Amino acid sequence: MDRRLGIDIGGSAIKSGVVDLASGAGIVERLELRTPRPSTPEAVGERIREIASRLGADGPIGITYPGVVRGGVAETAANMDKGWIGYDGEGAFREATGRPVQFMNDADAAGLAEMRYGAGEGRNGTVIVATFGTGIGTAIFIDGRLLPNTEFGHVEVRGEEGEHRAAASVKSQRGWGWEEWAQAVDEYLHTLERLFSPDRFIIGGAISRESDHFLPLLTVRAEVVPAALGNDAGVVGAVIAAAERFG
Ligand code: BGC
Repeated sequence: MDRRLGIDIGGSAIKSGVVDLASGAGIVERLELRTPRPSTPEAVGERIREIASRLGADGPIGITYPGVVRGGVAETAANMDKGWIGYDGEGAFREATGRPVQFMNDADAAGLAEMRYGAGEGRNGTVIVATFGTGIGTAIFIDGRLLPNTEFGHVEVRGEEGEHRAAASVKSQRGWGWEEWAQAVDEYLHTLERLFSPDRFIIGGAISRESDHFLPLLTVRAEVVPAALGNDAGVVGAVIAAAERFG
């Protein structure tokens, strides 16, 4: 059985899982740790080492990061310790684990998983995967091809960054009910719709499991569907990307 490790670094939690590639998107073993505070690369690196030694998979590791990653190097850190900016995560985690590492943006990974096994499977046209968590991540696909490192969580909506108005974390911070939050999400999606006229939005993040509470309140023209893989998409996508790169 081809079992691969995926790790999804988030602003609040580090989710990890062993994905059985033979069965598609199935996670067969999981481990979730809290993101250390402060969330420095060194402190997160310790957790990654721990996960790699505790979970039963060998070979390449796919790791996601909640910011821009180019050539294995983190370039932004909106919801992470600023020490990540310019940090060669790929090199550092390869050294720490002794295994090949694919290091990439979290929303891009979630998007890849949804396009391969989830709500974007077989979809042509423009598909935007937007993940709602501590921040908002975006992945844009045109006829199934990803435009990497789009950062539309930071697009301005009513004079504020989109993720400061509509991330899932804002709902709990402000004690909002579903209606208030859905309105903020709706305005956010309208902004993306004005820019890209997508055919479909796929809503990801843990909150996608509760989509019955907010999807019916959205008024954009595009179809809006919840992520089929829910909050597992980042872990699964990281594994897919690592397998594509390293075999
Ligand atoms: C970051 C993105 C990330 C998103 C979700 C944003 O603050 O800039 O790169 O994908 O949060 O974690």
